[in-house]
Formats: sequence, C-alpha cells, structure tokens
Amino acid sequence: MKSAEESNRATAGRQPGGYVYIIGAGPGDPELLTIKADRVLGEADVILYDDLVCSELMVRYTALKIYTGKRKNCHHFEQEAINEEILRHARAGKKVARLKGGDPFIFGRGGEEIEVLRQNGIGYEIIPGITAAHGASAYTEIPLTMRKVSSSVAFCTGHPVSKIQVPDADTLVYYMVASTVHDVLDAVAQKGRDEHTPVAIVQNATRYNQKIITGTLGELRRGDKAVYSPALLMIGDAISLCVEDNWFSKKKKVLIAGADSGVFNTGEFIKVHFSCKGEGPDRMENEEPLDLDFIDQIYFSSPLCVRNFQKFHAAIPEKITVQVADEGTRAEYSKLFGGDAATITY
Ligand SMILES: C[S@@+](CC[C@H](N)C(=O)[O-])C[C@H]1O[C@@H](n2cnc3c(N)ncnc32)[C@H](O)[C@@H]1O
Repeated sequence: MKSAEESNRATAGRQPGGYVYIIGAGPGDPELLTIKADRVLGEADVILYDDLVCSELMVRYTALKIYTGKRKNCHHFEQEAINEEILRHARAGKKVARLKGGDPFIFGRGGEEIEVLRQNGIGYEIIPGITAAHGASAYTEIPLTMRKVSSSVAFCTGHPVSKIQVPDADTLVYYMVASTVHDVLDAVAQKGRDEHTPVAIVQNATRYNQKIITGTLGELRRGDKAVYSPALLMIGDAISLCVEDNWFSKKKKVLIAGADSGVFNTGEFIKVHFSCKGEGPDRMENEEPLDLDFIDQIYFSSPLCVRNFQKFHAAIPEKITVQVADEGTRAEYSKLFGGDAATITY
C-alpha cells in the first residue's frame, strides 16, 4: 500500500506543477531539525530559506539554494515575491523545500504560503519545526508550564507596537521584540502584572551564542539593556526557575575550522563549524560573522583553514584555547597569529 506521502506525491505528479514542502528548521541548533525534514531537504531540487535558518544546516544539502531573508547587503524578497518564486519552481515540476526558522505556523507566514499553493492547485505538505519558545525553554531550563507555578502559556508578538496583546496566561512568550521590548514590558505592566514578576530575554536561543538577560518586570522596564535579534521575551513566575549555570551554558563551545576530526564528539562540547574547503572559506551569502566572545576552543584541521580563518579574524582572544591537527597547522598558526597551539592526535 502507498504511504499518504507517496499518494499525495503521485497526485501532485499528475498536476502540471511539482510539490512543495513547508518545513520548520527549528530555532538554531542544527541538530534540532527533524529526521523527516532532513530527508526531504536531501531530496529537494530547490530550497528557499529564511534568515533564521542556520547556515551550518544549509551547507549539507546539494539543492539549488535561494536565500529569501532580509539580512543587510543581501538581495531579498518581499512575501509576494517569495510566493511567486515558490510557484515558479513548483510549476517547473521541481520538488521545492520552503525552509523557515522555528515552526512555519508560529509567526512564520506558513499559513499565507499554503493559501497561495491551494489557490494555484500545487500539492504540498507541512513539516513542523521546534519553535523558538520551545528551544529557549529547553536551553535555559525555563519550563513554560509547571505544576503550581504556571498552568497556561501564550505565544505573542511584540511587533508591530500597535498590535501588542497581553493575554491572560501565566507564562507569556513574546516573539519579535528586539526593537519593542520596552513597549511590551509597559503593556504587560499596564495590564496589572506585578512589577516583581520574573522576566527573561533570551537571545540566539539554542545557538552557541545564546545569551540570557534576567530581572524583574520593574527592573527591565527601568533598564536600558540593548536587545539583539533574534530574541524572545519570557514573562511569568516560571521564569524564576531559570538558572545561569544551566546544562547548555556549561558546555564548552568549540569552533571547528575545517574538517571535523570527531575528537569533540563528546557530551562536553557544542560544536560550531567554520567550513573552509577551497581557496576561500566556504561561507554562505547571508552568513553572520562568528562571535568569538562565545567560543572557548578553536580546532584548526589544516594550514589552509588557519589562513582562511585569518581573513575573517585578525586576532584570537587569549581566553580561547587553540588546538591543531598536525605540526604543519601548528607552524601556520604560530606564523599568522603569533601564539602556540596544542597538537591533538586522534
Ligand atoms: C518571524 S518570527 C519566526 C518565528 C519562528 N517561526 C519560530 O517558530 O520560532 C522571528 C522571531 O522568532 C524569534 N526567534 C527565532 N529564533 C530565535 C532564537 N534562536 N532565539 C530567540 N528568538 C528567536 C525572535 O523573536 C524572532 O524575532
């Protein structure tokens, strides 16, 4: 018997168009992608991907990759143009993967995109992803619900300011707050929440550069801490359960420049990849610069990787331990960065 997916695909095959998968990539940690999404991305002809999709994930797939995000200095598409682009590839009979950060149906415009597909008779499926709130909750140890502390949770948006809502839920999670965090805190206070209510702002949840800012509603309203996107604002008594020294912050963040020797495949590390296969680093159009402040160790796999890395980072902060694969890499590192590095044998 055919699976539902096979028979759907067969139906789509009879139509003039191809088939579209609307996929959630999860909040950042590439390992949070579902097995199903990984398989479909591996089979896709075209992947249209958004800003919050981690580039480390994208380098795994051979499909034609089209960046549809809005990062500075990059060509980007408005939603209508994205819809057109999806239709264009689907009508050409392609297997199209539309990849979005988090979950496509949580502030992800997945609903709008499937409306367009329905209207145009294109076959599609939806593959859910881990939304930022769930990623942030797990990687900061903040339970969104907890017996006797929080029995309800609401996902809200801090954008636009004119549409900020404050539902009557124990835990409030606000998306899209980087520029509106004070407006949201004011709106929540005006709705009568106690000024001692615990609050957390989680930036870059589940990524190597995850940062948590905590305080009370009153303190954060009065404060002027800058908030960088992507960030979530979490409000409610459950936030008091957040611990600075959580399971994720305790892990060492190791940057692997070049081939991964597997030597850091232990539970102690979070690996961040800096790929440098050819003459220049194999980086993507929209890739964000690495923030070395969050890195504890760097591992260089070859002299070429040392050279490519140096094109992006003229110096390596002293607190970072440097390790190399062999004597040649060690010599290149000493020549370019002037320090010494330990050779790891494996
Ligand atoms: C357009 S919404 C997309 C949400 C996405 N569909 C999801 O389910 O997570 C973008 C917002 O999601 C939140 N977000 C996404 N990834 C995040 C992350 N790794 N850390 C913190 N917030 C994140 C931020 O509030 C960001 O402004």
